[in-house]
Amino acid sequence: MGQLLRRERAVLRQVRFARWCVQDGRRRRRSPVRQGSAPAGTRRVIEPRGGHVRQPLAAALPDFPWDTIAGAKQRAAAHPDGIINLSVGTPVDPVPEVVQRALIEAADSPGYPVTIGTPRLRQAMADFLVRRCGVQGLGELAGVPAIGTKEIVANLPSQLGLGSDDTLIVPSVAYPTYAVGGGLSRSRVVVTDDPDTAPAATMAWINSPSNPTGAVSDPGLLRGWVNWAREHDAILASDECYLEFGWEVDPVSVMHPDICGDSHANLLVAHSLSKRSNLAGYRAGFVAGDPALLAELLEVRKHAGFIMPEPVQAAMAAALDDEQHVAQQRERYRRRRAVLRPALEAVGFTIEHSEAGLYLWVNRGESGRASLDFLAEQGILAAPGDFYGNDSADHLRVALTATDERIDAAAQRLAAVAG
Ligand SMILES: Cc1ncc(COP(=O)(O)O)c(C=O)c1O
Repeated sequence: MGQLLRRERAVLRQVRFARWCVQDGRRRRRSPVRQGSAPAGTRRVIEPRGGHVRQPLAAALPDFPWDTIAGAKQRAAAHPDGIINLSVGTPVDPVPEVVQRALIEAADSPGYPVTIGTPRLRQAMADFLVRRCGVQGLGELAGVPAIGTKEIVANLPSQLGLGSDDTLIVPSVAYPTYAVGGGLSRSRVVVTDDPDTAPAATMAWINSPSNPTGAVSDPGLLRGWVNWAREHDAILASDECYLEFGWEVDPVSVMHPDICGDSHANLLVAHSLSKRSNLAGYRAGFVAGDPALLAELLEVRKHAGFIMPEPVQAAMAAALDDEQHVAQQRERYRRRRAVLRPALEAVGFTIEHSEAGLYLWVNRGESGRASLDFLAEQGILAAPGDFYGNDSADHLRVALTATDERIDAAAQRLAAVAG
């Protein structure tokens, strides 16, 4: 038994490569806080049969980090006025009525939906890209529906054929699913934020406005990444999920002609309805960009069954067509941000970046875990910076996604500590 365990560990050491990234030419561990939280079943290694050892895909992924804040969550939940959960960033406001109506009207959908989307959804994606992102020169295939963009972020490298000979670039402080997509495709993951020094690679993810930092890439940086992609004939995938929430600057899509010129070659952009339209529960998003890449992606997704349910297609089309609810939602978050920001500053936090998006990226001159504990004592739960990369362990991400009542309560609790 002991011998078997030793052998299992040895194999797992070989296959857990995706937990390591390359940064500045050095191998670095992606996050220091990835401890034994994967389900026991994922640790299994199949016994060699004819000399072949199966390498479980789950073992190529980072451990799920949220378990590591269970203690802080418990402490925050013990507050007499209840927990204020600003950690995950899940929408709490209602699904717009126009969207609910569209979902209900499409409830009788007995047949298989189409992967490419209904004509109505295809038109709505195209209209959104033109109206909201300033895109010109869209082809027949404007976008490919995604069952939420997390699914696209995780699957895009594999679905575009990346494998163990390929390199995937991800930002240094980032939504962890970019690296997960590297692990699922068994690609080599390289961390860099600078297109001028980025190595040749098959694909790169960028994210503006950023989760977790709220930073918005300026047009020069975005153009730099487009040039990098075209120089290396690589794919530039731009995650634009927070494009609607610019507070101090107006974020721009890489598909805007000012950034990409008159061609969408080498580019893909991901848009999510989760935050824009409070549709996280519906799982709705899409990818747009280079027509040749979209056609390839569509082919794979048709075969593999990545099909958005038809009632969700109807709901997503209604959501994309409506700007009124987006304006209303934007004002809700603007107010919450205005309340929370000074309250955090009053207890010693410095707010960094955060000029857009749904998070405040804060630092208190201590480790992010110490800041997490400090807030948990006040019954407030946030997300430690080490969830998002090696370089951000002294930060904390505070989400604006709580009701007005909870945000006001958080500000009151912090004011009481500030004295
Ligand atoms: C940067 C970023 N990309 C993608 C996603 C996935 O969003 P969804 O799957 O809800 O569309 C998130 C979710 O928080 C995110 O922060």
